[in-house]
Amino acid sequence: MDDIEPNDALLSVKNLVLHFTTSRGIVRAVDGVSFSVRHGETLALVGESGSGKSSTALAIIRLLPRNVAAYRGSIIFEKMELMNLDDEEFRKRVRVGGISMVFQGAMNSFNPVLRVGFQVAEPLIVNLGVPREEAYKKAEDALELVGLERSVAQRYPFELSGGMKQRALIAMALITNPKLLILDEPTSALDVMTQANVMNLLKKLKKELGLTYIFITHDLALASELADRVAVMYGGLMAELGPSDELYPKPRHPYTELLINSVPFLRQDKEPTFIRGSPPDPIEPPIGCRFHPRCPYVIKGKCDVSTPPMFKADGEHWAACWLLEEK
Ligand SMILES: Nc1ncnc2c1ncn2[C@@H]1O[C@H](COP(=O)(O)OP(=O)(O)OP(=O)(O)O)[C@@H](O)[C@H]1O
Ligand code: SF4
Ligand SMILES: [Mg+2]
Repeated sequence: MDDIEPNDALLSVKNLVLHFTTSRGIVRAVDGVSFSVRHGETLALVGESGSGKSSTALAIIRLLPRNVAAYRGSIIFEKMELMNLDDEEFRKRVRVGGISMVFQGAMNSFNPVLRVGFQVAEPLIVNLGVPREEAYKKAEDALELVGLERSVAQRYPFELSGGMKQRALIAMALITNPKLLILDEPTSALDVMTQANVMNLLKKLKKELGLTYIFITHDLALASELADRVAVMYGGLMAELGPSDELYPKPRHPYTELLINSVPFLRQDKEPTFIRGSPPDPIEPPIGCRFHPRCPYVIKGKCDVSTPPMFKADGEHWAACWLLEEK
């Protein structure tokens, strides 16, 4: 598995676990996930709803809900083990100039009574203690950077369209000059045209600022527009990880194959097919390969007994499937 953590990684996540306590039992949202992100690349984190994408991101940026039951593993960012930092060190060394995140569904979380400029400026005021006036000026700069008028700073959230709000959220995430930007479903609430504009903005920012992205989406076609590599999650685990130009034409995990075949845009030569069955219960996931109850290639007595490790398929292409085990 050495190639999964290349030497030039900006972020390296190993055996990351994030479990939650609920009245029904322990939810194993992230159950031992490993991947890395290189300087300047875009890693798309894909998978169906509930597979643990947002939880993985929240674990990296240490924004944890109160009902955490387990939080462990290794998160190395710029050669620094984040798990060893206390909260104050984490705020200073990671939240400022390190990792920023555009949160899923955050378009609806603007404070309706505060001007957009102050909300964009808030990370500077809170994390760096920058005086309000100065932070406000920087917010105007950031709004300009994402293609909005400086005067948008003086407006209230209800005066902004969805696309403008999403741009303002990106400005807010960029204001602390991060190296790594985590984008969690940044366009899923937008119409197709606005979505395309935001995707173009992300491409432009990446080029101009030399940013590294983790782009989270359930939309494989969208991921293909931006991703250098793709990480596919299933039931809190990594199913497949590989370069986009290998993973899309030649998926090595049956789940990825079925996912790709379910998107007409990616497989125009074939009728789209649907994945039978439902996602695994995060409290009592299936024994063995978590995908085995839905897998058309299941090997009885093996897949339903033992959890497959990540097998190397090719170069930097890995998949957690017994079909790749060398005989
Ligand atoms: N605070 C929490 N308490 C209990 N369970 C949670 C909590 N947060 C998330 N979960 C559960 O953890 C699992 C993973 O959720 P997560 O939000 O990470 O999935 P996701 O891949 O981001 O899904 P989506 O595509 O719907 O955003 C789900 O079963 C979810 O219900
Ligand atoms: S390990 Fe078995 S059940 Fe799991 S994806 Fe591979 S073939 Fe299917
Ligand atoms: Mg999510």
